[in-house]
Amino acid sequence: LQALPRMKTDVAVVGAGIAGLYTALQTSEYADVVLISKKGLDDSNTRWAQGGIAAVTAKSDSPALHRQDTLIAGAGLCSYDAVEVLVHEGPDRLKELIAYGTEFDRDAEGQYELTQEGAHSKRRILHANGDATGAEIVRALSKRVMEQENIHVLEHHFAIDALTQDGECVGMIVQKPDGELFFLEAKATVLATGGAGQLYRYTTNPEIATADGIGIAYRAGARIKDVEFIQFHPTALYYPGAPRFLISEAVRGEGAILRNTNGDRFMDKYHPQKELAPRDIVARAIVAEMEQTKSSFVYLDITHESEELIKHRFPTIYNFCLQYGLNMVTDWIPVAPACHYIMGGVQTDLNGETTTSRLFACGEASCTGVHGANRLASNSLSEAVVFGHRIAQRIKELTELPAIQPIRVVSKYRQTRTFNTREQRLKLQKLMLRHVSVKRDEKGLKKALAELERMEQFYQYIAQDREAFEFLNLLNAAVLTTRASLLREESRGGHYRTDFPNKDDLLWRKHLIQTFENAIQ
Ligand code: SIN
Repeated sequence: LQALPRMKTDVAVVGAGIAGLYTALQTSEYADVVLISKKGLDDSNTRWAQGGIAAVTAKSDSPALHRQDTLIAGAGLCSYDAVEVLVHEGPDRLKELIAYGTEFDRDAEGQYELTQEGAHSKRRILHANGDATGAEIVRALSKRVMEQENIHVLEHHFAIDALTQDGECVGMIVQKPDGELFFLEAKATVLATGGAGQLYRYTTNPEIATADGIGIAYRAGARIKDVEFIQFHPTALYYPGAPRFLISEAVRGEGAILRNTNGDRFMDKYHPQKELAPRDIVARAIVAEMEQTKSSFVYLDITHESEELIKHRFPTIYNFCLQYGLNMVTDWIPVAPACHYIMGGVQTDLNGETTTSRLFACGEASCTGVHGANRLASNSLSEAVVFGHRIAQRIKELTELPAIQPIRVVSKYRQTRTFNTREQRLKLQKLMLRHVSVKRDEKGLKKALAELERMEQFYQYIAQDREAFEFLNLLNAAVLTTRASLLREESRGGHYRTDFPNKDDLLWRKHLIQTFENAIQ
């Protein structure tokens, strides 16, 4: 066995969405940082975020109200302390984002425009360029990252595994674009790898959302928490030939209503907040209406609003729909739920550290406890910056790493056997869609789990390129999600069992935690 080439830095950050860029910037204030992006810096899930970032800025609003909305949406499983951190520290982090150059939309008087989304009791969501908030944040932060001399950006590099020595993370095995491997030694490693939307055939997430953080942390022995809770966004575009493009909840926030294919408005049958009920409720109501009308979509109707408002607030969505011959000003938009966000992930403490010391997780990859069983709209961008800042504070206090043994090439990364990763990914996505989706039951979950576990056994040591490593991460996450979904015999937030349709606080107001050695705790 040959020793791997080695590169050394203070902080390794994996991922180039808001969590990775922001944490890299914050840690670069006192340390050298290597930022690894599996694609280019402009390619992340954040880039597609539309609605905005939730933080208290208005006089009529308060952290207590933001806390209350977050806790209610989270359906009894939020960590109160993590939510407190979010709602109190969010406004300061927002100011930092602005100081880094992010330009949020303002009204004619220069005040920040605030929009509304589901389950928020106040208008508290800032947005940029109407409905292109994520793209603006990524633009501003990546520009700052590129200007920062002590952040070394490795684009098109893939972080495969975190290595541990005596229970501490000492860095990552990384693959270069030409396939060569090296060991990146770091005093602290931050997984800011984003979400897991590619677990499902239909998702608002881009191709890169392959649960990499969950896979890496799980194999490194860290605890994975709450992964049965998957958020299906109620309104993704459903149109032949078009991707499941996100139609922001802010469209409903500005007055759009949902109609079934008979043309009837239906949300008042399901929740007093109607179209602005928590996301899980709206998504299930849509599925129920689709079943009743034997249709695979419902309509989103904003035609009663002015053309001026629609074009000013939703230029991205308006132009995207127009490409497919749909004019939001005059047409109802066909929509259906699609996988959007995973509430669970790599368990962290309030400083973003996982249960493997020196290994941190930030953003969607993490489970800080903020979201509980169901995330409140636009809390994800705030969570990334609030906990990114705390991670940077914590890393500052870390002692130097002890001496590291030479790291040798591990044979599992040097396979010559290949497999059709596209075909296998599709198989996994279809299994998850059929059995581990908006509605679940024991029979379907057992079937999916047996097949996914069989696939995991078969493929775990057959990987050599990025697509195959991504598939393994998806496979690990799919097994973890399905296992937890089977075990949780109740319905709550983003987990709904048709065979256990009620919330059961007596038995199930608790978390499911999984580790590599110990399947479920
Ligand atoms: C949306 O714009 O509807 C998505 C916002 C979010 O997921 O928080």
